Amino acid sequence: MRVHVADHPLITHKLTVLRDKNTASPTFRALTEELVTLLAYEATRNVRTEPVKIQTPVIETMGVAISHPLPLVVPILRAGLGMLDGMVKLVPTAEVGFLGLVRDEETLMPTTYAERLPDDLSNRQCFVLDPMLATGGSLVAAINYLFDRGAQDVTAICLLGTPEGLKAVDEATQGREVTIVLGALDEGLNERGYIVPGLGDAGDRLYGTV
Ligand code: PRP
Ligand code: URA
Repeated sequence: MRVHVADHPLITHKLTVLRDKNTASPTFRALTEELVTLLAYEATRNVRTEPVKIQTPVIETMGVAISHPLPLVVPILRAGLGMLDGMVKLVPTAEVGFLGLVRDEETLMPTTYAERLPDDLSNRQCFVLDPMLATGGSLVAAINYLFDRGAQDVTAICLLGTPEGLKAVDEATQGREVTIVLGALDEGLNERGYIVPGLGDAGDRLYGTV
């Protein structure tokens, strides 16, 4: 598993405002979108391309186009939906599939309540969007879902992650091509499975249900 933790003052600044409990939903949503676009730049570093011939106003030259099958972006409902616009801004030709997972707040185990993905993901590069990598249970479930359908490689973009979550994903995906791109690696989890220092419940803060 490859892990990339962002190291850029703009990202740290935007995360600081996002973490602040006084930041209201409209600003939280706008910042989430901006952060994803910045993180997507690194996450798509290995997106597959193929050579194309084009004509500039001056000369014929070679460039690249994103290869088929096109990358598949998979936001994890509900909180991951707040990351979708920021991602497709950077990769507008990507296809989008949906996975709905919810974590039981007592057991911390995820269950799947919705799925709308292509049946066959052979040779697909998949990009999972979920703001929070806490225990890792939800991300492991999502990644396994995609590999079970034949995905070639999976890159997850999360705004915040924990060492516990990274370890869980690493152990569950041995031998698979997995990349995790984080906005920040936080200290760990509290007794309720929340990320510390974290930002609270990402879904509630995005959608104003606090
Ligand atoms: C949050 C978050 C992740 C999950 C992370 O979703 O968006 O999917 O928790 O926790 P884990 O790493 O311990 O599995 P939640 O289940 O609260 O659902 P929501 O997006 O609908 O709020
Ligand atoms: N899910 C969240 O939304 N926040 C956390 O801190 C952990 C899981």
